[in-house]
Amino acid sequence: IASAVGLAIAYFFGSIPTGYLAGRLLKGIDIREHGSRSTGATNVLRILGKWPALVVLLVDVLKGAAAIVFARWFYAWLQTLPTALDLQNQQNWVPWTVCLAGFAVLLGHSRPIWLNFKGGKSVATGLGLLLAISWATGLAALAVFGLVLAVFRIVSLGSILAALTAIALICSLDQPLPYRLLVIAGGLYVIIRHRANIQRLLAGTEPRLGRSAVLQN
Ligand code: G3P
Repeated sequence: IASAVGLAIAYFFGSIPTGYLAGRLLKGIDIREHGSRSTGATNVLRILGKWPALVVLLVDVLKGAAAIVFARWFYAWLQTLPTALDLQNQQNWVPWTVCLAGFAVLLGHSRPIWLNFKGGKSVATGLGLLLAISWATGLAALAVFGLVLAVFRIVSLGSILAALTAIALICSLDQPLPYRLLVIAGGLYVIIRHRANIQRLLAGTEPRLGRSAVLQN
């Protein structure tokens, strides 16, 4: 029960509908009916402008990092409770539950219960998670994202290549198995969430930053 509570809290962190709220509060619109239909910062930038996008980006990154920090603290705290919970002898228990909390926060962002399970693509939340798990991997992924964006000006391409970078790096670093699995599965999940973008990239119709775009998702 205690584990489920931790996972539910991580999911609810992720499901805070930042981009959706920005659309409702600033323009009275459902952002999921505009642009790429995503509630992520890129679509907020497209539809609402740079300042709302920056705020959404920061909050979404924080959601990912906060879920991991919270999960680490929560499960470590549970281990200090009386043995009635029978957790104290389970040495490797915390990284596995933190790993599940990581999936929960990604899922919360992209499949929020408040929005009929239609949210974003978990890139910013994934970055926050990554920085909390392995800051070096997070910074490297961010650097690749920035480089790709500077050269091609296509956010989705940057996100996909950053996810691949994170997967490659976490496999080559000395990290606990649960964290590796989290980054591998989380990275693949982010890439799968970009299915429509990948189709547009292959068709040469994915919009570049700064150009107005009519997107079909
Ligand atoms: O953050 C998601 C980004 O990689 C793509 O967003 O709105 O262009 O599908 P979007």
